[in-house]
Amino acid sequence: MEKEFLKIEKEALEAINLVADRASFNEVRNTYLSKKGVLSDLMSKMKTLSQEKRPLYGQLVNNLRSKINEALEVKNELLEAKELEEQLKKDKIDLTLPSMSKNSAGLNPFFVIKDEMEEIFISMGYEIADGPEIEEDHYNFELLNIPKDHPARDMQDSFYFSETMLLRTHTSPVQARVMQDKKGESIKIICPGKAYRRDNDDLTHSHQFAQVEGLVIDKNITLGNLKATLDLFVKKMFGEKRKTRFRASYFSFTEPSVEVDISCSECDGAGCLTCKGTGWIEILGAGMVNENVLRMNGYDPSIYQGFAFGIGIERVAMLRYGIDDIRRIYQNDIRFLEQFRAR
Ligand code: PHE
Repeated sequence: MEKEFLKIEKEALEAINLVADRASFNEVRNTYLSKKGVLSDLMSKMKTLSQEKRPLYGQLVNNLRSKINEALEVKNELLEAKELEEQLKKDKIDLTLPSMSKNSAGLNPFFVIKDEMEEIFISMGYEIADGPEIEEDHYNFELLNIPKDHPARDMQDSFYFSETMLLRTHTSPVQARVMQDKKGESIKIICPGKAYRRDNDDLTHSHQFAQVEGLVIDKNITLGNLKATLDLFVKKMFGEKRKTRFRASYFSFTEPSVEVDISCSECDGAGCLTCKGTGWIEILGAGMVNENVLRMNGYDPSIYQGFAFGIGIERVAMLRYGIDDIRRIYQNDIRFLEQFRAR
């Protein structure tokens, strides 16, 4: 009987010794220790033995079981060490690889500024109006007091589709459209939108650009209201410390007309390269709505007055962020845009 057991023990230990991986380990363990394995087989034979033989037989089975368990335990530890080693080899990190770039950027500064401008004027009670970019000569010029052959048209030379249709050269035609819509009622609107002109001869101009047009019409509106409004806008957009300066200018659709400068944030008005030594930077055109324009669009100038302004969105963005070339705003270069990710 003992010989019998020694033989099984030898076979088992040999089999365990040969195990080289997890699969064969499990196989050997099942062969000996599972419910239908060699050891439970041996155990079940106990009942066929006589009473006197059973204790020795039982002892031999138990001995064999613990020998096999021990050998399996040792093997298991060896396998675990090997597996860990393999895992570590596989997971090796190559520190010389380039990092994975996410290629994501922030909102284009154009839209950051456009949204901010809208919010500032909405907070002052303005509503947002809209108008077509392909516009009639009639609205773009005529109703704004710029008759045919008027030299003011030259300043806004543009893209024509026909004698009468063109890409609007400013957002001002929306003034005429809103006046005709609201005939007789007071008006307080802004219109953010695109405009087109045949000029792109320096780094601050493009044949396509965007403006925020503003129009207020009511009784008792004065130049003082215009100044207060634009001064507040400038302080909210560029900071409390910025001052505004109003210079006399000319637009056919406003009378008087002004051009508005802000004190240079670079040198605080002392004069530097950014402001070309003047201490001031021009940002927008504005004025009191010309009486002819009021009349042509259905308002009686003896009762109603108004003011209007047009602010270039790219211009404001360039000043706020120190952008040197207007084309950067349109090119969608990730190296430019990712600088605005945090905003
Ligand atoms: N439309 C003018 C321009 O584009 C700006 C402006 C708007 C001036 C409203 C006065 C009033 O230059």
